[in-house]
Amino acid sequence: MAQEEEGNGTASRCSGRNGDSESRWSLQGMTALVTGGTKGIGHAIVEELARLGATVYTCSRNQAELNECLKDWKSKGFRVAGSACDVSSESEREKLMLIVSSVFDGKLNILINNVGTNTLKPTLDYTAEDFSFIMTTNFESAYHMSQLAHPLLKASGAGSIVFLSSVCGVVSVNVGSIYSATKATE
Ligand SMILES: NC(=O)c1ccc[n+]([C@@H]2O[C@H](COP(=O)([O-])OP(=O)(O)OC[C@H]3O[C@@H](n4cnc5c(N)ncnc54)[C@H](OP(=O)(O)O)[C@@H]3O)[C@@H](O)[C@H]2O)c1
Repeated sequence: MAQEEEGNGTASRCSGRNGDSESRWSLQGMTALVTGGTKGIGHAIVEELARLGATVYTCSRNQAELNECLKDWKSKGFRVAGSACDVSSESEREKLMLIVSSVFDGKLNILINNVGTNTLKPTLDYTAEDFSFIMTTNFESAYHMSQLAHPLLKASGAGSIVFLSSVCGVVSVNVGSIYSATKATE
């Protein structure tokens, strides 16, 4: 852009192309909610969205770890806020979405249903509690988070939902039958 202002025709065309590419990938002005942003893939997603210009809200169950991440993101100049939430709990999901709605003025562009867990056992050894824990954390939470986010996504005029799937939902991989079922359905 600076080169354009200097009136260099060639530089101006190059700069224009760069500008197009930058704006194509820009998330300036966008808001995003990423569940489970303190570790692994969720952490990387928070940083990528923030780097592209989005304002991000995230959560995890561990407030101390979340605070460390928020401090680090602030030092990097990213616009990221967050609060503790166990997304497998209905009341905590509802509370989270009320906070997100208040922080983002009722509008959300991107919901990333990232939280996922697993307990690796042979299929015959899974208990009813194992089944419930994995299904609730991976599948039920993402389903209800999407329902809760729907009015905010609609209000933004450009809403997207991303579900973190896995290759084990498509082909047989030895990572546990319940986990694979939760990923196949996404
Ligand atoms: N890693 C892989 O190779 C892989 C491959 C394919 C798909 N995936 C999918 O990608 C997603 C992320 O996987 P990952 O390996 O990056 O996971 P991870 O490293 O275990 O991180 C999970 C994140 O979610 C948070 N979390 C877990 N349970 C939560 C809950 N009930 N409520 C709120 N936050 C919760 C964790 O923080 P706290 O524990 O502090 O709450 C953490 O920030 C999952 O959906 C997974 O199935 C992963």
